[in-house]
Amino acid sequence: SPSDPDLVERARAAKAKLGDKVFVLGHHYQRDEVIQFADVTGDSFKLARDAAARPQAEYIVFCGVHFMAESADILTGDDQKVVLPDLAAGCSMADMATAEQVAECWDVLTEAGIAEQVVPVSYMNSSADIKAFTGKHGGTICTSSNAQRALDWAFQQGEKVLFLPDQHLGRNTAVRDMGMSLEDCVVYNPHRPNGGLTAEELRAAKMILWRGHCSVHGRFSLDSVNEVRERIPGVNVLVHPECRHEVVAAADYVGSTEYIIKTLEAAPAGSKWAIGTELNLVRRLANRFASEDKEIVFLDRTVCFCSTMNRIDLPHLVWALESLAEGTLVNRIEVDKETEAFAKLALERMLALP
Ligand code: 13P
Ligand code: SF4
Repeated sequence: SPSDPDLVERARAAKAKLGDKVFVLGHHYQRDEVIQFADVTGDSFKLARDAAARPQAEYIVFCGVHFMAESADILTGDDQKVVLPDLAAGCSMADMATAEQVAECWDVLTEAGIAEQVVPVSYMNSSADIKAFTGKHGGTICTSSNAQRALDWAFQQGEKVLFLPDQHLGRNTAVRDMGMSLEDCVVYNPHRPNGGLTAEELRAAKMILWRGHCSVHGRFSLDSVNEVRERIPGVNVLVHPECRHEVVAAADYVGSTEYIIKTLEAAPAGSKWAIGTELNLVRRLANRFASEDKEIVFLDRTVCFCSTMNRIDLPHLVWALESLAEGTLVNRIEVDKETEAFAKLALERMLALP
């Protein structure tokens, strides 16, 4: 979408006034009007590392969603302030696992006599509370670009994994990348007594998957894969591992947003691609590679933008930057000290994965 020239000018002026005091991070799913002001772009793993690598910036303006800003706060120094331009930019998947629910789940695992064998692995897309729970119980965080390495590590520490909150990433990694079977996985439903599972089912499982999903990626279906193959002969189907298992099983390539970008960069001219991830990124890639004669389409035209990623728009970014330039700290995301300590432990285990 073309951005308002007046707002573009104001964002540029405020950023210039702030100079090195501000560092703007942009997730790949952000709008173009926002991405143009990002000092770096990346997937959630890359951005977590980039945030930690900017100790000189007093303000980290995070153009992404709440859990990413929390992670940036955890990984940066105490004197660095992380700002989320719109506090309503949450993540429906992260909201599917609350601290109370996860504590209750741990009680259920304890009752079943298996808690000691279970290592929690939590997707980056979770609140700081869930990351702290993970760190406290000897687990690690993972992202879509290192989920297999995180699970390999976890199965060296224990016999079972509690994977939360995205059941699809957990199942896809276990079954597609690690040779486990669908029967090795059970789904823990926090809205049912005992997660809807018997103690026997819990004892037999290797992967206990939290019943969460992404409201965007969860909407791609096997029908969309079949339809695009019919519509575009020779098309390569490339999807994010937050998609449902049957979609991932039917796709040609599966990976994180960084993987998707690299795959398209390496693709030969004349190739055709249907992409199952967030629409802002797919549109940007379609435009970028059009001149190289790579045809890129969105896997399912009925799926829409991530509405919370889209909360960060140019007006919110301008407001945040201008406020900071005037010396007013707005929308700071600050994780409390105790949560931070345990969450950091889990994040650092991830950063140390081979
Ligand atoms: P990645 O950035 O790890 O690919 O995750 C996708 C996502 O849904 C972020 O919200
Ligand atoms: Fe959350 Fe999905 Fe949006 Fe990512 S794309 S922020 S996982 S709802």
